[in-house]
Formats: sequence, C-alpha cells, structure tokens
Amino acid sequence: MKALLSLGLLLLSVTVQAKVYKRCEFVTLLKRHGMDGYRGLNMTNWVCLAQHGSNYNTQTTNYNPGDQSTDYGIFQINSRYWCNDDKTPRAVNACGIPCSALLQDDITPAMQCAKRVVRDPQGIRAWVAWRNHCQNRDLTQYIRNCGV
Ligand SMILES: *[C@@H]1O[C@H](CO)[C@@H](O)[C@H](O)[C@H]1NC(C)=O
Repeated sequence: MKALLSLGLLLLSVTVQAKVYKRCEFVTLLKRHGMDGYRGLNMTNWVCLAQHGSNYNTQTTNYNPGDQSTDYGIFQINSRYWCNDDKTPRAVNACGIPCSALLQDDITPAMQCAKRVVRDPQGIRAWVAWRNHCQNRDLTQYIRNCGV
C-alpha cells in the first residue's frame, strides 16, 4: 500500500512536470528564436511537425525497435544521430547534448538541435512525421490567429 502510494506520487510529479505548450505560445517562441524562415523553412512546418510528433508535449518519447533509438521531446528528435541517451547503439550525438535536454520545459535546446538537423542536406525531410503530415500541404492553419 505504501509502495503503491509512493508510486502514485512519483507518477503525479512526472505528470505535473510535463509541459504542454499552447499552439500560439509555441508559435511565439519559434518566432523569437529565429525559426521562421530558418533555412528557407516557414515556421508553419515546425508547428505542423510538433503537433503531429508530440502534440506540443515536451516529455514525449517514442522508442523505435528497428534501430533501438528513441525520439525525444516536442520535435521528436532521434537519439541515433542527434543526442546522447547512453543506450542507443552507434549513436552520433551531432547536437552534442543529452537527450534529456530535449524534454525540458524550456525548449531552447530543442529548437537549437532542430536547427542543426535541418542544416544537413535532407533538411526537414529527416522527420517521417513531417513527410506524412506536412509535406505538400497548406500549413497556414498552424499559425492562424496567433498574431504573427
Ligand atoms: C510564413 O507563412 C505565413 C503564412 O503564409 C506568412 O505570413 C509569413 O510571412 C511566412 N514567413 C516567412 C518567413 O516566409
């Protein structure tokens, strides 16, 4: 009973820590951090990617059994190439950060690493979620009524 109670409190504290951004709050941060027009990408692409990848929840993680990597955070950045989680085989860590930095409430490291990702030739096509949900679509709805 006591163990169950502490487990409950632990889960509660984890839940409380997860920051879920409001769409327009996220849009404002993207703009402030120079993500609009970065490498020619309209920020609508980042909003679309975040909505479909994480629903704006900074604590989102998804494990990929194929290569035993994990996608982290609001942009679902992959541990095989971009960050270090000490458990992904042959990981590269091109952003030079622990993957846990991508789960923080403060999404500054996540935005910096996302910029690093699109500096590679494949650009935003690196994200399957972007190809499946955002490529060749009208994305204006993602920044609608945000005043940007
Ligand atoms: C991004 O798209 C919106 C909506 O079409 C537009 O108002 C804005 O100027 C675009 N930003 C850039 C940097 O092109």
